[in-house]
This record gives sequence, structure tokens and C-alpha cells, in this order.
Amino acid sequence: AGDLPLWERPRTTRSLSPEYRGVSACHLNYIPQEYPGHGVSDFRQPAIHPRHSDGSTVCDLVFQDYQISADKPGLPGLPAARGGNSQTLLIRLADQRTGLVVELSYTIYAEHDVLSRSARISNQGTAMLNLQSAFSSALDLPAGDYELLHLAGSWSREFETQRMPLPAGRFIVESARGASSAVHSPFVVVMEQGSNEEQGCVYATALLYSGNFAISIEQGEFGDIRVLAGINPFNFNWQLAPGASFQTPESLQVFSRQGLDGMSQIWHRFIAEKISPQQFAHQARPAYFNSWEAAYFSVDEAKMLALASQVRSLGLDLLVMDDGWFEGRNSDRTSLGDWTADRQRFPGGLETLAAGVHRQGLRFGLWVEPEMINRQSRLYATHPDWLIGVAGQPSSPARNQFVLDLSRDEVVEHLYSVMDTLLGSGSISYIKWDMNRYMTEVGSSALSAEQQGEVAHRYLLGLYRLLDRLTQKYPTVLFENCASGGGRFDLGMLHYMAQGWLSDMCDPVGRLEIVNGASYLFPPSTMAAYIGPSPNHQNGRISSLQSRGHVTFFCAARGVSLSATEMEAEQAGLQDLVSCYRESADMVVNAGFHRLLKTGNEVCWQLTAADGSEVYLGYFYLLASPNAQFRRVRLRGLDPQSFYCRAGRKEKLSGAALMHAGLAMPVMSLNQSIAGVDYMPAGDFSSVLLKLQRVQ
Ligand code: GLA
Repeated sequence: AGDLPLWERPRTTRSLSPEYRGVSACHLNYIPQEYPGHGVSDFRQPAIHPRHSDGSTVCDLVFQDYQISADKPGLPGLPAARGGNSQTLLIRLADQRTGLVVELSYTIYAEHDVLSRSARISNQGTAMLNLQSAFSSALDLPAGDYELLHLAGSWSREFETQRMPLPAGRFIVESARGASSAVHSPFVVVMEQGSNEEQGCVYATALLYSGNFAISIEQGEFGDIRVLAGINPFNFNWQLAPGASFQTPESLQVFSRQGLDGMSQIWHRFIAEKISPQQFAHQARPAYFNSWEAAYFSVDEAKMLALASQVRSLGLDLLVMDDGWFEGRNSDRTSLGDWTADRQRFPGGLETLAAGVHRQGLRFGLWVEPEMINRQSRLYATHPDWLIGVAGQPSSPARNQFVLDLSRDEVVEHLYSVMDTLLGSGSISYIKWDMNRYMTEVGSSALSAEQQGEVAHRYLLGLYRLLDRLTQKYPTVLFENCASGGGRFDLGMLHYMAQGWLSDMCDPVGRLEIVNGASYLFPPSTMAAYIGPSPNHQNGRISSLQSRGHVTFFCAARGVSLSATEMEAEQAGLQDLVSCYRESADMVVNAGFHRLLKTGNEVCWQLTAADGSEVYLGYFYLLASPNAQFRRVRLRGLDPQSFYCRAGRKEKLSGAALMHAGLAMPVMSLNQSIAGVDYMPAGDFSSVLLKLQRVQ
């Protein structure tokens, strides 16, 4: 304790608290630690919880040495942020009694306020040990008044923002579903009480992991805060043989003094620069047509080709054939696993269809769900043992499907060759990679009884290996991540796939909440959205094409999923929106995104071009109210000295005026039309999209 910096030296004896190794007044129970163990005077949740061969779980990690190296090593088998202009500190800790060694890795970047962390645990003893938990990062914060923000939800209402005072005790966001899930995101913000978009100290943690995770926030008896992030200890157990090591997934930490917006700017830039596949991160995304809400399972060659010509006339770039195209797949009861085109509906196979689509000047994209299997399939008839499951226990179906056991090499190999065959033809430039159920009855017939606690993580290692190989071999194919919408929308998946389908909720009101919540962490460049039908297929709401189009505008990957009749009826409006999407495609993928306003009834977002020359504002008004207050919205991040002009107007406003006095939003009125007043469409779920240009 004498070696501790002055501010961390024991200050007082705490009644009831044991003293670490007999050092007077030294209680680990309140001393900040980097990777706390268990059983030696700290009663809080530990970062690591091994069970040794003698049955004990005491873990006394003591500093051994450290090393600083230039740049950042990769994480074998796991997605990780890229290095570059960075330095990595490795700290080695050891539990002398058992030979358990922990290597903590910390990378800092010259150009990003992000700390990347992970832990590598090695068994340098002589006996097998069981890792019951091994988090990726621990963050001990001093006592203070904090609030918590996290994202929770379910299918079709992902990323709902939850904000609350930090309770005494432990609060955990987690998944034990085999996927990071739509229920909680692997992302948590602990912030100074009262922080807002522009002010307050904010500490955020996010995981690059797509499976069972936990982020635990504990307020201890002395008000101190511990944030642990990593693989969920529940149902996890990893056998670590002598000489073996275990690598945790990566955890990223961000600190900002500029509130939630300041934090989001750091995340957005970092994700684009260091996590998204480099070749796509800054590339304008194709505006696409997706067949799902246009045709559902009823797709065939003639219909797709007819749609292609209509899609072309709207100005879209890419035609995506969603579910329903493979052998016998006319409903969700059959065929997952059999990834060849249905011969009756596609007599010329995918090649002929793709050629027809290309002839229309469009690119061709395809939906797949490789990780899944229906019992009614040729694959199941050949390999009934390839499913995740527990012998003797009936498997619970979800959407009539089951999960393939990606902890097995031969399953991963098979899926690789399936995808390689599809992509090898060269005619597919986009893949929507879907995953539509969580895991139950988790077990693998290929692993021993002692290793069953490893299945869920080994599944992820198999999936990452598969995605790594495929995206390396086909670097020009644009992959879109999907899991019934945002059921696995996380930084792990976004490391392989540049964009993700945020949610099946395409109603503009539902989407507003979802995009707003997701934007705390994810930049617009990672978000995909399309204009769906009205009445909406998820909640029945009727909304204008314009408001559907305006919410969609704020995602970099934008498109349309409407039937032939719907597209015909809205042709002119769709052409306008698509041309606006195409014109702004470059801007939005690189733009800065700000949440300017969010009340129960109004939302306003800002997108600023990377060079500052253009600014877009989306203003959404949910339930119409007569005689409402005039709303001014203060913009952010402009050059105070520059002048900006609304497209088509002469009036100039300085950046300083727009940021400090704000811009008056259009008003709604049923029966007035006064010259010079800016009106927005009357009625519920109204919106406007305003464009400002920097003029000098
Ligand atoms: C999931 C996706 C949808 C669609 C269907 C197809 O629900 O989220 O967008 O692709 O699967 O079955």
C-alpha cells in the first residue's frame, strides 16, 4: 500500500472490512483496481472468477511487469478495432498460488479519445482450471452522483433509450440468448448526474461482441462505481488446460466532457475509422429495392424482372431479393439449409435472374440466413446432428427453425463452401446476412460434458471465422447485418459488415425512436433503412411517403420495399426521394450526426457534411396540435464565422446565430397561409427536411 499514489492510499479503517494481506487500513473493497479478483478483501463483483483444481475460487492478482509497444496487435479469432497511430500497454498480473496469469491490454490512439481493452488469461500452473467468468474490462470510478443510460427493447422496438439514476447495488444489462439481442445492447453510459447532449462528464463502454454479454454496474457501499463488461458469466464455463490461454473480446471505453453528443461524435468517428470494413466505411451506399415487404415469400424470376424495370425507373441502384428464393421456400416452415435457387420459380437459376437485373443497369443482392436450418430440408436429412441441442431434450423451434452448431469446424466449413459457391459466380454484389432466432437447449454433441459451458462462445468464434474468411475473399461484396431487424446489431458484427438492418420497424414514428437511441453509439454510416408500405406492416400506422422518406434519409443505406402497385401509385414522390438519396449518398455516409431535439412529440436531427458545406435538418412532429409554440432549434458544430443559406432562399444566417439563437422551425396550420411564413404539412406524423448550404 505504501507504493500507491497518495490519493489512493488507505485513509481510514473500515469496520467489518478485512485488510488486504494485513496492511493496516488497506481494504480492496474501496480501492480502485484494474482487474479485480475475488476473495481477498474486495466483496464486489470480480472481473475474473476462476475455479481452481482444489475447488477454491480465490484469485489474488498481483502486478508482475508491463510493456509498451507501438501500434495494436489483432485479437486472434475475434473482431477488434484496427490500430494505426496507437500505442499498446500490456500489464501482466499473476495469481502466484495457482499460476493463473492475466495480461491486460490497453490501446490508446493519437487521433481518437477511445481506450481499447481486453484480457488474455493463461494457465501457467500444472492443473486444469475452470474460468467461470472473465470480463474484458473493469472500470472503477470514484464515488459521485451518476446516472445511467442504456439501450433496451425487443423485436421492432430496438434501441429504446433508458435513463435512470444509478441505484445502490448491481444493475446488469445482458444477454443469455446466444446473440447480443434486441433486448439490451452491449453498451452502457455512466454519466455525471444532469449531463445532457452538450454538457457533463460521460464514461461509456461498448463491447465488440455479438453473443452472450454482460455489462454490470455496481455501486458499492462507499458509493464507488464498478463497470464490468464482457462475456456473460451466466451459463459460461471455459476449461483452461495447463499451457492454454483464453482471449476475452474487446471492450472500448470513451470519455467525454461534452455530454452525450460529445461522446457520440467520438464513437461515430472511431467506428467509421477503426471498426467498419475500411473499403466501405466512407463509400456512398447504393440505394436499394428490397423484395420483402413488396412480395414476402412469393418471389419468382418473372416477378423480380418486372420489379427490376420499375426499380430502375425510380432511380435505385441495387435490387435485393429477400427471403423466399431457394428450394421449396414458400413459407417459413421449410428449406433453410438448402441454398440453391428454387428450380420451378427460377428455371434459369440465380445466374439468369442476376443477368436480367444487370441488363436493367442494376446491381443484384441476395438475402441469406446461413446459420439456421429447418427440419424440412435436405441439409437436415443429411446432417441431423448438426443442430445445437441437448440429447433427450426436445429442441424449441422459433419461426420453425433451429440453430446450426457453429462451434463445429465441419459446419463452418460447409457454410463457407455454400457462400463461396453463391458469391463465386461474381454476380452478387450485396448480401443481407440474417439470423432470426435466439438459442435454446444450448449444447453441442461434438464437445465433452465438461465443455458444454463453452458452446455459446465457440459458436461466436465459428461465426467470426466464417465471416472473416468470406469478407476477406469477397472484399467488394457489401454485407448487411440483420437479425429479425436489430437482434444482433453490435460492433462485433459491424466489424465484418459495413451496414446493418436496424429494425423491422419501418413506420416513421417507431423508427425515430430506434434511430435516435442507436445513434448514441452507431453512426449513420452503419444504419440501413427503407421506405416501407403504409399502412405499416408492423403497427398499422398510416403515414405519408414524405415522413417515411425523411426518417430513412438519416441512414446511410437507404431504399424502398413496396409492391409494384404501391410503387406505381407513388412513382413521382419516390423518384424525388430516391434522387435526393442519391445526391446525398456521399454526404450522409461521412456526415456528423447530432440529436438536436427530442421531446414527447418532436424530434430534430442534424447531419453535417464532413467538409461543413452542407447541413440537413430533419424535423419531425408526431401528433398535430393547433396553435402550438414556435420552436427554435439550436444547431451544433458549425463554423461560427461562416454564413449559411436555406436551399432556394436568399436570407443568410451566420453559424454563430444558428448555434446560439437557433433556426425557427416551420409551423403547422390548417387554415392559414401567410406569405413568408414557413409551413410544414398539417396532420399527424408530419416532417420537413431542410437543407442549408454554407455560402461563405
Ligand atoms: C427477418 C428480417 C426481415 C426479412 C425476413 C425474411 O425478419 O428482419 O427483414 O428479411 O427475416 O424472412
